[in-house]
Amino acid sequence: MTKVSALYPGSFDPPTNGHLDLIERGAKIFEELVVGILRNSEKSPMFSLAERLDMLKTLTAHLKNVRIEAFHGLMVEYAKSIDATCVLRGIRAVSDYEYELQMALMNRKLEPTLETVFMMPADKYSYVSSRLVREVAQAGGPVKGLVPEVVEQKLLQKIEPAYKFYDERPEDTKPQAPRAPSRKGRKTKA
Ligand code: PNS
Repeated sequence: MTKVSALYPGSFDPPTNGHLDLIERGAKIFEELVVGILRNSEKSPMFSLAERLDMLKTLTAHLKNVRIEAFHGLMVEYAKSIDATCVLRGIRAVSDYEYELQMALMNRKLEPTLETVFMMPADKYSYVSSRLVREVAQAGGPVKGLVPEVVEQKLLQKIEPAYKFYDERPEDTKPQAPRAPSRKGRKTKA
């Protein structure tokens, strides 16, 4: 049987446990899996491309057939350039289906030889998305168990300075009262 190289494209802002689960599943069935991080997927991503590359490289270091790269432009063009014949995407719930179907069919129109394969992450991650993780973290909520520990620490590093700045402002200049980030998983000062 033909050995298949696959591309798993996405924004990964930030990588979640759901992404990692899918990468691990993909690595078992494809000869090679390239995780392609889209450059400039949003105007102002929370994590820079370098940070996302770094986090994903650390998280997948144990998977020898997984490579982490960045791309820009059309995903199908990038897939061709790395000789990937398959695109891997995750479907968590029915709500993902419509968008994913539309994207898969558009990609097929652009490049008929490229097949999209859908896999489901573990059901315990079916509600986890990068957008919700960012939202919870930015509002000071705990993200333990939703993202790998290295990502959790990075999130806290990004968010804590904002709270520190808020704490240090004179009372009468504070615009509103944010909830402090959860102490759980938060590095305490020595
Ligand atoms: O993690 P995301 O944001 O759901 O990933 C979306 C992504 C990066 C796979 C998609 O936006 C993409 O492929 N963008 C590259 C530009 C492109 O080819 N667009 C046409 C898609 S039909």
